[in-house]
Amino acid sequence: MVKRVSVAFSAALLAICALQPVVAQPSRARATADVDLSARLKEVQANPALEESLFKLGRRVAAVCIHCHGEGGNSLNPDIPNLAGQNPAYLLEQLRLFATGQRRNEFMEGMIKSMNSDEKVGMVLFYSAQKVVHKPSTNPTLAEKGKAVYQQQCLACHGANGLGNEKIAGIAGQQPGYLRKMLDRYRTAQSGPLAQSVMTPTVRSMNEPDLQAVIAFINSMP
Ligand code: HEC
Ligand code: HEC
Repeated sequence: MVKRVSVAFSAALLAICALQPVVAQPSRARATADVDLSARLKEVQANPALEESLFKLGRRVAAVCIHCHGEGGNSLNPDIPNLAGQNPAYLLEQLRLFATGQRRNEFMEGMIKSMNSDEKVGMVLFYSAQKVVHKPSTNPTLAEKGKAVYQQQCLACHGANGLGNEKIAGIAGQQPGYLRKMLDRYRTAQSGPLAQSVMTPTVRSMNEPDLQAVIAFINSMP
């Protein structure tokens, strides 16, 4: 059985199409807030028919996200992150942080509140299965310098290919403006998840030329 997108989510879709701010629907958010998304993801992955049905649901949800995150989660806007190929656990954690207000972005918070738990799990199945489109560097000299920085400072956690793992974000091919924004947040956060992250000491010890170089390299990683 193919699931349809929920009424709340359809309303959010219409709101975006009309470029109106998304009005969160608190009652619905409460109804799905207690669902353990990680447990639901595991349950779905163990049931191929259900997985296929939620994957298709996720692809329909992605028709809304495409306006900003691009086709198949490959963003065309340097300030908006790719979602393609991102680790399922990392995506779910970001949804949780937006939903609890620990990660602030007015638009994304409204968007997430309008999605029910199966739309969230379906979206994660869809995006994690997409491939990041490789973009060769526009500044190979800078990217080459950034490769050395990456190997020293980032590789131990994010891996040789920048794909991360269940706990660590995939960053290969990520958009440069978004990387800059996130790294600056890790550098300046006073409290909350970014201030407490395992990578915060590394990023705070880096100088500006190394930061620029590592961003150029990560953006060009295949
Ligand atoms: C109007 C533009 C817009 C739309 C539409 C949109 N997003 Fe976003 N999204 C953003 C921006 C901007 C960010 C970065 C927020 C920040 O700076 O923290 C983001 C961040 C995210 C992140 C965190 C990514 C990361 O690497 O940490 C996820 C997950 C996400 N969006 C999912 C979705 C989903 C799913 C949809 C569709 C249901 C969607 N977004 C629709 C603009 C949008
Ligand atoms: C000690 C392990 C560790 C090191 C070293 C590390 N990271 Fe991370 N990074 C993480 C983890 C774990 C996350 C997931 C979010 C969190 O827990 O902060 C992450 C998240 C990120 C994100 C956010 C991704 C997104 O889509 O929002 C970026 C960007 C990033 N890392 C870049 C880097 C860069 C660049 C370096 C090297 C200069 C680096 N990291 C070094 C562990 C690490």
